[in-house]
Amino acid sequence: MMLPSSLLVLLLLGGARGCGEVRVEPHTVLLGSPVTASCRVQQALCHGWHASSLGTSTAQTLGGGLEEGGIRLMWKLDNKTLPGTQYWSANGTVESNLTIARVSWTRAKLRCYLAGMGTGTKTETPQLIATADIQAGHLPSKPHNLTCMMNLREMSLTCRWDPGAESLLPTETILKSRKTCRVVTKAIQECRPLLPGENHCTLPHQHLQLYQDMEFWVWVRNPLGTAESEHLCLDPTDVAKLDAPTLMSVQPFQPNCVAVAWDVARSSAYIEQQCELRYRRDKELAWTLVSGIISSNQKVQHCGLLFGMPYRLQMRCRRRAFPSYWSEWSTEQGFTTHEKAPAGKLDAWWQVTPSGSRQRAKVQLLWKALAWQEANGRILGYWVALSPQQRGGVPTTVCNTTEMGCNFSVPPGVRSVYLAAYNAAGKGPPTEVIFLERRGQPLRGLWATPRDQHSLWVQWEAPAAPTNGYVLEWRNVPPAEPGGRLGWQVEHNHSATGALIQDGIEPFRRYNITVYPLYVDAVGVPRHTATYSQQKAPSCTPKLHLRSISKYQAELSWQPVPTELQNGFITNYTIFWASTSSNMSSAVVDSDVQAFTIRPLKPSTTYKVHIMASTVAGSTNGTILMLTTTALDITEIQFLLLCLSLIFVLLIVFTVCLQKNGRMKKQFWPRVPDPVNSSLGKWVPADLQQAARAYARPARRRSQELPSHLDDIPPTALRKEYANLPVIDKADDVVKRILSLEMAGQREKVKIKMEQLAEKVRRAPNDNGSYEVQVAHLTAKIRSYQEHLQKHPKDARNRRVMLMAIDQQQKMLKYLRHTRYDLFENTCKQLGIEYTFPQPYHRKVTRLWLVKKAFCLKVFEEVQKLKASERLKQRQETLNEKRLFLSKAGLVSSLLLEQEFIGDLQQLHSAARALF
Ligand SMILES: *[C@@H]1O[C@H](CO)[C@@H](O)[C@H](O)[C@H]1NC(C)=O
Ligand SMILES: *[C@@H]1O[C@H](CO)[C@@H](O)[C@H](O)[C@H]1NC(C)=O
Ligand SMILES: *[C@@H]1O[C@H](CO)[C@@H](O)[C@H](O)[C@H]1NC(C)=O
Ligand SMILES: *[C@@H]1O[C@H](CO)[C@@H](O)[C@H](O)[C@H]1NC(C)=O
Ligand SMILES: *[C@@H]1O[C@H](CO)[C@@H](O)[C@H](O)[C@H]1NC(C)=O
Ligand SMILES: *[C@@H]1O[C@H](CO)[C@@H](O)[C@H](O)[C@H]1NC(C)=O
Ligand SMILES: *[C@@H]1O[C@H](CO)[C@@H](O)[C@H](O)[C@H]1NC(C)=O
Repeated sequence: MMLPSSLLVLLLLGGARGCGEVRVEPHTVLLGSPVTASCRVQQALCHGWHASSLGTSTAQTLGGGLEEGGIRLMWKLDNKTLPGTQYWSANGTVESNLTIARVSWTRAKLRCYLAGMGTGTKTETPQLIATADIQAGHLPSKPHNLTCMMNLREMSLTCRWDPGAESLLPTETILKSRKTCRVVTKAIQECRPLLPGENHCTLPHQHLQLYQDMEFWVWVRNPLGTAESEHLCLDPTDVAKLDAPTLMSVQPFQPNCVAVAWDVARSSAYIEQQCELRYRRDKELAWTLVSGIISSNQKVQHCGLLFGMPYRLQMRCRRRAFPSYWSEWSTEQGFTTHEKAPAGKLDAWWQVTPSGSRQRAKVQLLWKALAWQEANGRILGYWVALSPQQRGGVPTTVCNTTEMGCNFSVPPGVRSVYLAAYNAAGKGPPTEVIFLERRGQPLRGLWATPRDQHSLWVQWEAPAAPTNGYVLEWRNVPPAEPGGRLGWQVEHNHSATGALIQDGIEPFRRYNITVYPLYVDAVGVPRHTATYSQQKAPSCTPKLHLRSISKYQAELSWQPVPTELQNGFITNYTIFWASTSSNMSSAVVDSDVQAFTIRPLKPSTTYKVHIMASTVAGSTNGTILMLTTTALDITEIQFLLLCLSLIFVLLIVFTVCLQKNGRMKKQFWPRVPDPVNSSLGKWVPADLQQAARAYARPARRRSQELPSHLDDIPPTALRKEYANLPVIDKADDVVKRILSLEMAGQREKVKIKMEQLAEKVRRAPNDNGSYEVQVAHLTAKIRSYQEHLQKHPKDARNRRVMLMAIDQQQKMLKYLRHTRYDLFENTCKQLGIEYTFPQPYHRKVTRLWLVKKAFCLKVFEEVQKLKASERLKQRQETLNEKRLFLSKAGLVSSLLLEQEFIGDLQQLHSAARALF
């Protein structure tokens, strides 16, 4: 077991290539057939590097190892391991044979590896000994369809063939030719395609023999075999392809013909040729062929073309005697045939706006372009006239335009006009357009269905009377632009029951289609239908309006979606509603409905409501409307109102009863004197009344300054403190100004006013304390307060101060009145006080008042008694205290005397403290 392992180590070190060989039989096989291979490792070949690298081992040891079966030969086909059969020879050779029963691939690599078999060598990688390629494929297939063509300019012959099925193996292809036909002796020339896989080959002119038959065939070979095409026998000139002729001139001539002159190519000038030409209208694909042109001077004329039409023309030629291949077409040449006056009738349609019998009628005339076969050239314009020919020199033309319609007016009584188209060659025959009345039978039915996005099928049921044809009109609703383009067409086939309209049809737009039957002497009454070529969901939804709402229901209304935003026929509307607590509910209504009542709803709940508009092609949701149901029903509210009014009526009845019955009234409302009638009201002075009124009803703040009682004090007056200073006369103006009221506040002015008023009633120059002076001071103060309160009616604090001052003033005046009436009178006059005398006191004595008075008196007496006893008690207590003090003081003095410390105050103090 050790020795094979050492061999493997050697192999790993140096590699095993060249140590053995692989033989494959055969290398190339038919697909599906078997292959055998054998791999042999020879002692002698491996010996060389073994000895040189190890130096000690011998050939015998290696041979012995192989014989012991310590190594194994392995096969791999590409990456697939295959089992082989292994043999040992006595002379130190190990061999493995492999058979593949069916080859199913075209190309593969077969590898032979050397691997150890012992337990200790399992991990060793197998060593590659040799490789071999195996190919598989088919036998070469027979080429067919061999064709040859002679190029006259280069004098060469090009042959092409179809190689047939692919053999999947490297193939050699040769075009073989012989200068005679079916004479085997002549030499064979070979032509190999320039690139492998090409299926054509060009023989140069030295290999050709003109005006005699030659033999051509294709020979192919691959590793599996050879094949050969049919032999072709031909004269190279018979397969010549001429060069294209050159068009020299292409000239149209009257009336509808063309003259063509051409030149043959130089290479084929000696060959007699026949040619053909083809032409087509501009922008058309189909050609018209004119063949069999044989002309010695290379000129030809052709007629029967359309008038005034642009054409394109080409030409080609070939050998005339033995027709071979056509040349290529020559380059195109354009030409335009001569024009002729237009032919044929124009399709016309009209709208006559009826007018009075004396007035000119307005006509809108529309027409369709002539077919190109009838236009005979480029139409320059259209002409509309009242008569077909000029009448005695009077021009009757009403329109001469390039448009496809014309608006004009005609004199009363004109029932027809003439319409013609003209081109450069003249005017076509006029078509008479008769304005037939629209009073014939209408169609029995009309439908329109979309065919695709840009066309509609219109179908109808023919009227009972025989018709001449139909006119279809269509219009966008609402018109995209003002006036709206009118589409129209005529259906001449009187048995038709349908027509396709394609002009100006757009998806998602509504078209109003009108069909008129045409009769010999009238036009039928029109029928209408509306349709879409394609529909989609509406662009918008109606806006919901809440019409009314109550406890259990809500009434909604909306305006229909405008037609241009519908994008289709609205089939129905769906209304959705939901509250926060309930699921979504919905209801579907028809498209013509514009109001809906949602019920039942819950009272006092908020709902989200929206509407959805649907067409066949889809739906669009609207915005959400929030609405809240009421808590009460209308009948409940009515009931409540009824109850309230009932109570009110009862109250009124009760009051009236009371008014009528005095006793009852007294029972409920004992008589209480009206404070307005009280004497106090009369007694109150005017100042107080005014102030009280201002208090009760705050005066509206006035924008302008109120007149003040301080107004008469000049601003230049000095302050009170400085007025009587003797030095003031000597002071300069600035100082005086500083000391004047101009710089002072309200308070200073009031002081001066007080002084002024006091001056009026003073008894003596130094009288500052008499009642009159005090009244004067109070009066100035009260007036200032009154003015202040008029401006600031809500200043309660100052109002209280003022009322107190008024009270004091009244007391003093009362006293003066009682004691010195003359002074009282003078004071009132001087100070301008309006004093109203209080009425003599009186009071109506009622039982209740008497009881109250008695009670009050009794309470007063009791209180007095209690107070008296209290006072007595207090007096006695103080007396007792005094007495006690005196006795204690006596005791102290006696103590002091006793101890002879009379002079010591300290002692006296402590002694007293100890006592009290
Ligand atoms: C064989 O396997 C190797 C690597 O494992 C890979 O690179 C190679 O392409 C494979 N060959 C084929 C023919 O599958
Ligand atoms: C060994 O024997 C085989 C046949 O068994 C023979 O083909 C081969 O040539 C021999 N090799 C040597 C080195 O003699
Ligand atoms: C192995 O195959 C070869 C041919 O590939 C053949 O000569 C040889 O005899 C075969 N060996 C055995 C033992 O069959
Ligand atoms: C030979 O070619 C012609 C036209 O090129 C074709 O119609 C015919 O089928 C071909 N023959 C074969 C056997 O392929
Ligand atoms: C129409 O107008 C064109 C020019 O605009 C004029 O050449 C032509 O003669 C007019 N035709 C008639 C019939 O008046
Ligand atoms: C279509 O047009 C006609 C007049 O041209 C009008 O009377 C009719 O109401 C229109 N129909 C619709 C659906 O708009
Ligand atoms: C409402 O219209 C839509 C779309 O055309 C249709 O599918 C649906 O059935 C209609 N609903 C009712 C209740 O007619």
